[in-house]
Amino acid sequence: MRDLSPTSSIFGTIPEAPPDAILGLNTQYRSDPSPNKVNLGVGAYRTADGQPYVLPVVRRVEQALADDPSTTHEYLPQDGLKEFCNLSASLILGAHSPAFADRRSVTVQALSGTGALRVGFTFVARFLSPQTAVYIPKPSWSNHKNVVVQSGLPPAKEYRYFDYGTGAVDINGMVEDLTAAPAGSIVVLHGCAHNPTGADPSHEQWERVLQVVQEGGLVPFFDNAYQGFASGSLEEDAWSVRRFVDAGIDMLVGQSYAKNMGLYGERVGALTVVSSEGGNNEAILSQLKAIIRAMYSNPPKHGAMVAAAILGHAGMFAEWEEELRKMADRIRDMRQKLRGALVKNGTPGNWDHIVNQIGMFSFTGLTAAQVELMKNKYHIYMTSNGRISMAGLTEDTVEYVADAMKDAVVSLKKGVIHNM
Ligand SMILES: Cc1ncc(COP(=O)(O)O)c(C=O)c1O
Repeated sequence: MRDLSPTSSIFGTIPEAPPDAILGLNTQYRSDPSPNKVNLGVGAYRTADGQPYVLPVVRRVEQALADDPSTTHEYLPQDGLKEFCNLSASLILGAHSPAFADRRSVTVQALSGTGALRVGFTFVARFLSPQTAVYIPKPSWSNHKNVVVQSGLPPAKEYRYFDYGTGAVDINGMVEDLTAAPAGSIVVLHGCAHNPTGADPSHEQWERVLQVVQEGGLVPFFDNAYQGFASGSLEEDAWSVRRFVDAGIDMLVGQSYAKNMGLYGERVGALTVVSSEGGNNEAILSQLKAIIRAMYSNPPKHGAMVAAAILGHAGMFAEWEEELRKMADRIRDMRQKLRGALVKNGTPGNWDHIVNQIGMFSFTGLTAAQVELMKNKYHIYMTSNGRISMAGLTEDTVEYVADAMKDAVVSLKKGVIHNM
């Protein structure tokens, strides 16, 4: 018989999960008492003073919602706020997308970008096959692997993506690996601002990826967590997704408003399923709703109302675009300053990749050992693959960080990018 004494809980033997590669850093950072500590781990925008940023246009919409007596806290349907879904699909696919004209797309609100992936992969496991192979770039955002497995799919396989020799996309390796993937496999593609490398395919390189996808019968899952952050233009950053839609590919598209509207904790995102032929939208929508119903019933309302208000109003949309450009500019400015400080302090190696990469992150090329030294000796936190959030740097910290990098590079020698 089971021992029911108070010391033998049925939960007592559950092993502790390893800390999350990114979120675990935050916990360490918070408990570090050093006055010099710098958090370059998590990808959240910070102002020039290192503070969290609420976009003024977001603040205004929130105030208006709070003051509006017709604002309620009623449930949304499983697929979320209809207006938000339509506007969100237009933002990524383009208002005049052929997918709308032919009724080839279905969009549901999701719990930010992660939620879009989670619902999307569950849909894949249920309606493609629970054995569907998923290919993610090597390296990729560390949570991709977790979401794939938790959605009931086999562990993700990796395709070559980054050339450590040149610091650019290894397009030949990528094409070769995707050519070998079985038809019907899902291929996760970062729509823009690849995390963690900051290296995106050129338009010509995207054409080669499209060709492999078409010829091999692969199903892309575009993950768009940074629309507007790569180039500063929402249109340009949607180019890859739109190109694939125009080519008539069956695909899934995830979106997040965490970074580009600064709505991190509100969990605002969307999942769009695009079919090569129309005609089955109602069935697809019904199944997505059934998945959501059992997972969390329906999504939160506040953030979706804020995003919909901005997306649906020309004046506020223009203001948002301006804000986005400013955020992207500050990040670019920090890239220049960090590279400048590394050159000035004589850190061995070539640091051009810091300014050539795009998006929120820089993939510095520091090794895991160098990252450890930066943390233990200087209280500077970054992921163990040497990725730093450029938005976490400020005028006040950039030289301190550059000097610490010099120490790490000089005392522990070579980084992982060959020209360092
Ligand atoms: C590549 C990528 N995908 C998805 C996400 C999901 O972010 P969220 O769930 O906060 O929208 C992130 C966030 O860092 C990311 O970098």
